[in-house]
Amino acid sequence: MSGRPFLQIPGPTLVPERIVRAMSESIIDHRGPRFAALVHECLEGLKGIFQTDKGQIMIYPGSGTGAWEACLVNTLSPGDRVLACVNGHFSTGFAKTAVAYGIDVDRLDLPYGAGVPADRVEERLRADTTHQLRAVLVVHNETSTGVTSNVAAIRAALDRARHPALLLVDVVSSLASIDFRVDAWGVDVALTGPQKGLMLPPGLAILAVSDKALHASEKARCPRAYWDWAPVVERNKRGEFPYTPATSLLFGLRESVRMLSEEGLPNVFKRHARLGEACRRAVQALGLRLLCQNPAEYSNTLTAVVMPTGLDSDAYIAHAWKTLDMSLGVGLGDVKGKVFRIGHLGSLNELELLGGLAGVELTLKSFGVDLRLGAGLAAAEQYLLDTR
Ligand SMILES: Cc1ncc(COP(=O)(O)O)c(C=O)c1O
Repeated sequence: MSGRPFLQIPGPTLVPERIVRAMSESIIDHRGPRFAALVHECLEGLKGIFQTDKGQIMIYPGSGTGAWEACLVNTLSPGDRVLACVNGHFSTGFAKTAVAYGIDVDRLDLPYGAGVPADRVEERLRADTTHQLRAVLVVHNETSTGVTSNVAAIRAALDRARHPALLLVDVVSSLASIDFRVDAWGVDVALTGPQKGLMLPPGLAILAVSDKALHASEKARCPRAYWDWAPVVERNKRGEFPYTPATSLLFGLRESVRMLSEEGLPNVFKRHARLGEACRRAVQALGLRLLCQNPAEYSNTLTAVVMPTGLDSDAYIAHAWKTLDMSLGVGLGDVKGKVFRIGHLGSLNELELLGGLAGVELTLKSFGVDLRLGAGLAAAEQYLLDTR
């Protein structure tokens, strides 16, 4: 099909031209002086994006799933107990990765569509009077449901319970899109991939690590080699890595941190909030229901939409792809076949969002959903107009 494909999934996102061009630079010697300057700029830039002065940044060739593993094997030992807050497909994956390493996982199970309630975390922590729980695992933005949990409130719950557990947070679909603060919220490990808010192609595992987590890594006994933080920290001081780095992605990452800094993080968050609200208004104006139950927890990077009764979302998504070359996110885990997801993150502007929403309207209609064409677009346009 001519024109650009509509990749309206919640990551990977379309890569802006500036980043594509930056990544086309010739590969340089990864032990030379030009490379060291590239590494230092990426590490410093990421500190700004994670909103940390003190945190140590780790970058691996990998993916978000690898970042879960890097986080867990460096901070925990087999037999350690952790509290995993599970409210969707990705938080389930994070918890399962811990189980795979012999970590004893206490689950705080929540329905798909709910956020993590800080008071219930506090209850669990207070009940743990002998401080057996070594860590609390949370996914900031559950990409399978379009729900953003309040990490600041979870931090406050840990503090009120005077509990020393580490706070380990997956920010794969929130970093560089939704406000997230490592230092201010006392986060011990924040982990992500490059293919969402950072606007890069997939291929990296990125972490921000507190002093407390680095300290924990000295005692943690989970088996680890590739993911071991110690050699990364050591070699990063000289602008190197203990493995062959993904040089092209680092060129792209440097451009990404420059772009985010030019726009300014507060403006990046505002842009996502505005586009997210326009999308939700469009969906609701079409008479469809959002999976996220609590407006205070609406995700600004994606909207999970409940498929009208009797219709299968997998079949609808295949239809959208076939008729308009548009990709929407599938329903994952418990909501497979029941939900589709509209991504609105990364390098995205108003017209692109409206193009995607037009595609959603058109394909829902041609799939047999009873709706008035233009109703969703009008609601989104009106909101965008009112908030100019
Ligand atoms: C919240 C969250 N965590 C983890 C992952 C896994 O990341 P990856 O697919 O890069 O391994 C994803 C992927 O979409 C995600 O959205």
